[in-house]
Amino acid sequence: KILILDFGSQYTQLIARRVRELDVYCEIYAWDADAQDVKAFDPQGIILSGGPESVHMDNAPTLNEVVLEMEIPVLGICYGMQLLNDHFGGDVEGSEEKEFGYAKVHVTGESELFAGVSHKELDVWMSHGDKVKSLASVFNSIAHTSSTPYAACQHQSLPVFGVQFHPEVEHTADGRAILSQFVHQICGCESLWKTDNIIDTHVEAIRELVGEEKVLLGLSGGVDSSVVAALLHKAIGDQLVCVFVDTGLLRYQEGDQVMQTMADKMDINVIRVNAQQRYYDALQGESDPERKRKIIGELFIRIFERQAKELDDIQWLAQGTIYPDVIESAASKTGKAHVIKSHHNVGGLPEDLALKLIEPLKDLFKDEVRKLGVSLGLAPELVYRHPFPGPGLGVRILGEVKAEYAGILAKADHIFIEELRRHDLYDKTSQAFAVFLPVKSVGVVGDARRYEYVIALRAVETIDFMTARWAHLPYEFIDLVSRRIMNEIAQVSRVVYDVSSKPPATIEWE
Ligand code: XMP
Repeated sequence: KILILDFGSQYTQLIARRVRELDVYCEIYAWDADAQDVKAFDPQGIILSGGPESVHMDNAPTLNEVVLEMEIPVLGICYGMQLLNDHFGGDVEGSEEKEFGYAKVHVTGESELFAGVSHKELDVWMSHGDKVKSLASVFNSIAHTSSTPYAACQHQSLPVFGVQFHPEVEHTADGRAILSQFVHQICGCESLWKTDNIIDTHVEAIRELVGEEKVLLGLSGGVDSSVVAALLHKAIGDQLVCVFVDTGLLRYQEGDQVMQTMADKMDINVIRVNAQQRYYDALQGESDPERKRKIIGELFIRIFERQAKELDDIQWLAQGTIYPDVIESAASKTGKAHVIKSHHNVGGLPEDLALKLIEPLKDLFKDEVRKLGVSLGLAPELVYRHPFPGPGLGVRILGEVKAEYAGILAKADHIFIEELRRHDLYDKTSQAFAVFLPVKSVGVVGDARRYEYVIALRAVETIDFMTARWAHLPYEFIDLVSRRIMNEIAQVSRVVYDVSSKPPATIEWE
């Protein structure tokens, strides 16, 4: 396994995902992690990430001494390479000018690091301000670009390497081969991190941990909790009890689908709580988005808690925490690594249930969770679904939530999604949905005028959901969806398409 020390690069998680894609397990620790913890993890190699700092700045992250002490291979990427050079007496130069984008790198001489690449000219991705001005004498340069003689380096006697460019980024054409060479050949890691193995080891670990005891899980219909359910069910069968709260704010017929998939098809113990009316009652008269979120979250906890108390002899509470959540909450001791925050997870779970916590997915990335899900028998359509916010339709019905609005919105949304799938556009958008606008506009059907609601369609393309571009769906397609919605849902007299990108707009309307 490989340890990645995080110096705050926006690409750190990407490095980890690339290593995992090479079927090798890895974890991310903060750059100033305790030497003991690093040794306890017992890595076969260490990768130093890039970072936004300059090695000369006060309080800049430094090279953790444990890195070289362990006498295992080290690969420094970008800031990582600069740090290694600084450490061994080279000179790192600050520069106002950033090099950002594609570059051509010429590989010179023989280097183990590039042994997996047959050509000498590589198209790589650069993203840095500082660079190595004079190489530490212990290093040999193994690659250059037209603007720097030191695009990559190798220690003369130790398995220590540096690259100025980013092999983890898709744009670096041979990035995968370079990382594979480091991880498999130089560090000697075997390809053991494969879906089937992951399932086997997790099943075993769950059985060991839980023994004969019972586990409670809140099912939401989302990917993570569904995969947790499938995995736990495989491990402990009927010792798993799921509670699924139908909030009345789910996608079209989602409540029935959850029951069909999890209870009927997979034979998982699921208790369905029909709480639709309780949600509509609780939300009545409330139009402030943040208060709506709070009401929805708190009501979930209350209902879940009540259910839990009715069940006897439950000892464990399962949660669908995944690895990125763990990395985010495990910031550096000095708070130096710049962690990009992902999104607010709604709800939280009951704290006073006095249950032990089990988080079977907490070492997995989302793409790994999805692969596991498919392997465990969940439908790919479910596993590869767009993200759906915790408060559900509650934040897609603008203003006050009513049962009637939720019904209209769920139908419109279903038509939109169905057509996206039919036209092979679903996977080309990152998130798509309908929004209910509680304003009435005039329409005409036959000879009669009607005065009905407005539906907005929203579709975006994004990598990280922090920024997003509105999806340029074909006009004919939007036309078709719009007509279907107005024809099939009598309470809608107008459909509009949202052409706002994020920023300044957000993806959701509330
Ligand atoms: P925004 O609207 O902030 O959304 O651009 C970014 C991503 O976060 C999702 N989102 C939420 N997810 N609870 C959630 O679990 C929420 O309250 C919430 N608000 C937004 C949104 O669907 C998008 O994927």
